[in-house]
Amino acid sequence: MTDKTANQMWGGRFASGPDAIMEAINASISFDQRLAAQDIAGSRAHAAMLAAQGIITNKDSDTIREGLLTVLSEIEGGSFQFSTALEDIHMNVEARLKEVIGEPAGRLHTGRSRNDQVATDFRLWVRDQADAAIAGLEALMRALLGQAEAGADWVMPGFTHLQTAQPVTWGHHMMAYVEMFARDKSRFEDARRRMNESPLGAAALAGTSFPIDRHATAAALGFDRPMANSLDAVSDRDFALEFLGASSICAMHLSRMAEELVIWSSAQFRFVVLSDRFSTGSSIMPQKKNPDAAELIRAKIGRIFGANVALMMVMKGLPLAYSKDMQEDKEQVFDAADNLMLALAAMTGMVGDMQANVPALEAAAGAGFSTATDLADWLVRVLGMPFRDAHHVTGALVALAEGKGCDLPELSLADMQGVEPRITDEVFGVLGVHNSVASRMSYGGTAPERVREQVTAWTEKLG
Ligand code: ARG
Repeated sequence: MTDKTANQMWGGRFASGPDAIMEAINASISFDQRLAAQDIAGSRAHAAMLAAQGIITNKDSDTIREGLLTVLSEIEGGSFQFSTALEDIHMNVEARLKEVIGEPAGRLHTGRSRNDQVATDFRLWVRDQADAAIAGLEALMRALLGQAEAGADWVMPGFTHLQTAQPVTWGHHMMAYVEMFARDKSRFEDARRRMNESPLGAAALAGTSFPIDRHATAAALGFDRPMANSLDAVSDRDFALEFLGASSICAMHLSRMAEELVIWSSAQFRFVVLSDRFSTGSSIMPQKKNPDAAELIRAKIGRIFGANVALMMVMKGLPLAYSKDMQEDKEQVFDAADNLMLALAAMTGMVGDMQANVPALEAAAGAGFSTATDLADWLVRVLGMPFRDAHHVTGALVALAEGKGCDLPELSLADMQGVEPRITDEVFGVLGVHNSVASRMSYGGTAPERVREQVTAWTEKLG
């Protein structure tokens, strides 16, 4: 129902209240109530500063700060009555504060506006989410390091085009994701550093004539400094976009890994067994064990990247400074953050629990002529052939094996010498998958020794 009386916060010049449709499109309280704790922290810092600067009395400041704690406990306890007529979290809190403490509540909004207030609340909220993403990524990296350490020398096929390419180690494959998630983590750290400046005290857009101390409120809220330009402070949401950008790239990495788990856990691959804790059954096919968590993680990129695009579109073309369009920033970020944290936690659980099928990995590692490059390298190294010629000879040997329906190590020496007479039986030493991976000692290569170095280095870095 529409409240036909004018708004108590800004209705001085209004003869009537808003239409019900106006109220419906205008209100953000249904979602921005998630900013309650940040809003109250900002108000407490602002009130203390106003008193320290002699703008309000210490008595009023103490009353306001006590009252705000009462309001916060009502919100946290679930007894708070949110009102759509009061639009947003800022006015809901202030109106309740007035009911609780009376007249001093009206002094809280001195030297500030909802524009700097919402920018401050939202920065604080996004900053917390950046911290949560960093912690979530660290947990995932630790789970991957556990797998890499256990399987530093388990062999598996490495793929290009999803066709068997060369044998690699399980540990090397796990460490590839550690690298990706480490870069994701650094993107959140980097974004956090840039966002950690306080908009509070920018007021509506131009600053204020009151002698406020923006450095004090910035410090009280854990910001590194106040933002230097009041127009910029109330009008940009690039901090949220950076969070969504970092989240999108991270979700893309999660989605690739999730896809591998879906493939690897299939009956055709059997590379891994996912735990019961992270699988589901089918209501009709009793034999089924489905990798639903991996599939859902694979899909999360859709909504997270969608949020990124949506907010980019909201911000595009907005003239300075604040416009109400910017109220559309929050739901996108809330949804993206919730789903990213869930995806990170689910992936960490799956990776921690999953059991590699080492014999299946090893059997697959040797299939598909995966050591053909090792054979070509041997022809170069031992017989001194140019690599292009060695490539050609090896191709002929692969074709021969394919025709016989066997793998390269199963060709006889006579078969091989039929193609290249200088081949000796020493060649069989490089055709085994374990020798193949052990020989890949170049920096960043798949040799178990190299993998163990990386596991140690990352374990130390994570502390
Ligand atoms: N609910 C608003 C938002 O989320 C708060 C700022 C409103 N400012 C204004 N001038 N109407 O953006």
